[in-house]
Amino acid sequence: MTNKLAIVTGASGGLGLAIASRIAEDFDTVMLTDLQEERLSEVAESIESSTSARVIVSACDVSDQAQVAGLYDTAAREGAITGLVNAAGIGMFTPIAEIDVELWDRVFAVNTRGTFLMSQHFIRTAQPPAAIVNISSIGARAGNDMLAHYGASKAAVIEFSHAVARGCARTGIRSNTVMPGFIYTDMWRNTVAYLKQNDPSLADLTTEQVFAGIVDQSIPMGRAQEPEDIAEAVAFFLSDRAKNITGQTLAVDGGTVLT
Ligand SMILES: NC(=O)c1ccc[n+]([C@@H]2O[C@H](COP(=O)([O-])OP(=O)(O)OC[C@H]3O[C@@H](n4cnc5c(N)ncnc54)[C@H](O)[C@@H]3O)[C@@H](O)[C@H]2O)c1
Repeated sequence: MTNKLAIVTGASGGLGLAIASRIAEDFDTVMLTDLQEERLSEVAESIESSTSARVIVSACDVSDQAQVAGLYDTAAREGAITGLVNAAGIGMFTPIAEIDVELWDRVFAVNTRGTFLMSQHFIRTAQPPAAIVNISSIGARAGNDMLAHYGASKAAVIEFSHAVARGCARTGIRSNTVMPGFIYTDMWRNTVAYLKQNDPSLADLTTEQVFAGIVDQSIPMGRAQEPEDIAEAVAFFLSDRAKNITGQTLAVDGGTVLT
């Protein structure tokens, strides 16, 4: 098959960007999508300068059905759609008592509905053999009372991926999930800012020191994960090396969650 195209959502963010850079080695065309086109264009230039892949951008809110449909119309004109990485996501620490319905719905709209819409359109338009990789989180298995909304939305992604895997098993479309551990991206920078605001004992520590302390306490291997660690797992699941693997969930987290 020529001009194999993969779509990466959340491609301006820490993990999405690393994933797009890595899979540009394996696809002819990589389509980057995120909320803002301006930032995407910068990312596309940097990826294109270091690979032979064609990198195209298209802004899209993954929680919006019409925008997702439009994105796939564009993608289908640009290549044979064979890969999808659902990396767009939002998450924030919130005590359960303080999660209002709007916040709960917003987290599910991006993390869960977004994954559903992107995957549904992929199933309709992909040219098998093709593969989906969903970015869930170890928060889906942690029972963290500050992440009830986020953890529940990411747990839903895992079960949705199971259903896609079984439903598409005979069509040549695979679906797998990666659960990243702790990666120092904007998501964690914002989380640490929240923790510092709410815990006076952290006031004198830098954001990096607070993050290092959380990593030391939480990760058996004692080190944070890098975006490239996640990108490597995604590239494997998308590739033919994983042609007999579907419906699986892989934690890349230094031994934090045992699956
Ligand atoms: N950083 C971590 O430690 C960690 C751990 C586990 C899972 N994850 C997951 O990895 C993924 C990437 O996270 P990250 O750490 O790179 O965070 P990030 O905040 O740096 O990136 C997330 C990206 O998603 C985009 N996005 C948000 N809402 C969107 C929407 N409605 N439509 C399209 N794009 C949207 C943002 O603009 C941003 O570029 C997320 O799904 C996150 O839940 C991250």
